[in-house]
Amino acid sequence: MSEKKPQSHGKNQVETTGHTWDGIEELNNPLPKWWLYTFYACILFAAVYTVLYPAWPLFSGETPGILGYSTRGAEAAEMKTWEAQNAPLQTKLDAADLTTVKDDPALLQYANSAGAAVFKTYCIQCHGAGAAGNKGYPNLLDDDWLHGGTIDAIYTTIQHGVRSPTDPDTRPAPDMPAWGETLKPEEITSVVQYVLKISGQTFDATAADAGAKVFTDNCTACHGDDAKGNKDMGAPNLTDAIWLYGGDQATITQTVEKGRSGVMPSWSTGSAKLSEADIRSVALYVHGLGGGQ
Ligand code: HEC
Ligand code: HEC
Repeated sequence: MSEKKPQSHGKNQVETTGHTWDGIEELNNPLPKWWLYTFYACILFAAVYTVLYPAWPLFSGETPGILGYSTRGAEAAEMKTWEAQNAPLQTKLDAADLTTVKDDPALLQYANSAGAAVFKTYCIQCHGAGAAGNKGYPNLLDDDWLHGGTIDAIYTTIQHGVRSPTDPDTRPAPDMPAWGETLKPEEITSVVQYVLKISGQTFDATAADAGAKVFTDNCTACHGDDAKGNKDMGAPNLTDAIWLYGGDQATITQTVEKGRSGVMPSWSTGSAKLSEADIRSVALYVHGLGGGQ
């Protein structure tokens, strides 16, 4: 019968560190080889990396690394290639007659994608992400235009704005007057009924008849004899179902009593000025949204 040897955990082959706690000794096993080599490889990698790439922070900036690489530099280089690639199209667009751009598919495509990017950055906060507008900010998708829907009219609106305080060449639109200051309350009530009538909504017949006269006396100068509006003044068509501020009785009453004067910024002046090429491309983009004439 051989004596069962106590299982060795290497106590006899492996050195101890000399530490003992309550009789338990700490062995000094060597580190696994794979771990050790990975560790050395990491140190080597880090050393090489800090020489090649920006790494050590200094008082101002950091060590540049002998490759001279920086993410900012890489981005700038990429932008340069991109700009160089588009330079011929850009020059062409700057000189192009806007009405003929549609005959040049490559140029139109370039203008549309550049214009879409401009629109996303500068226009959606007022006109909405899909350009469908908001109360007081016109829908740019339909073919109902306050100031004209030809490419040249759209370009001029974007270039100089409407009622813009910063641009002397801004579109000269009179304000919609505040009739609460000049008309009697019953005249306002009746002219509102007349507007409901001509826009095909439910209305009070007696009041609307009286309102027709108030309208002829006070409103046709801007909105036209047929109330279909006047693009030279930016006076909206009042006979359709498209409203800048709203076509319900309460909103029309508010518009007539208090007046309105929407401001479209000028993009060729002021602090948020866009380049000529940006204005041209966003005009083409808007014209191409569906309502362009
Ligand atoms: C601060 C808000 C605001 C921003 C930003 C803005 N707009 Fe406007 N825009 C308006 C308002 C308000 C009107 C209507 C003016 C009026 O009442 O006649 C308008 C009118 C227009 C019109 C004329 C619509 C028509 O029916 O004739 C076009 C086109 C237009 N904007 C394009 C743009 C483009 C393109 C941009 C971006 C470069 C832009 N807008 C940015 C407020 C804005
Ligand atoms: C001096 C020119 C002028 C006169 C006169 C005038 N309007 Fe206007 N009206 C405008 C303009 C310009 C607008 C657009 C305001 C804007 O773009 O912010 C407007 C807007 C409106 C709107 C808003 C339409 C919408 O789509 O939301 C209504 C309603 C309206 N007018 C009714 C009247 C009535 C009723 C009268 C007569 C009592 C009248 N207007 C007289 C110039 C005029």
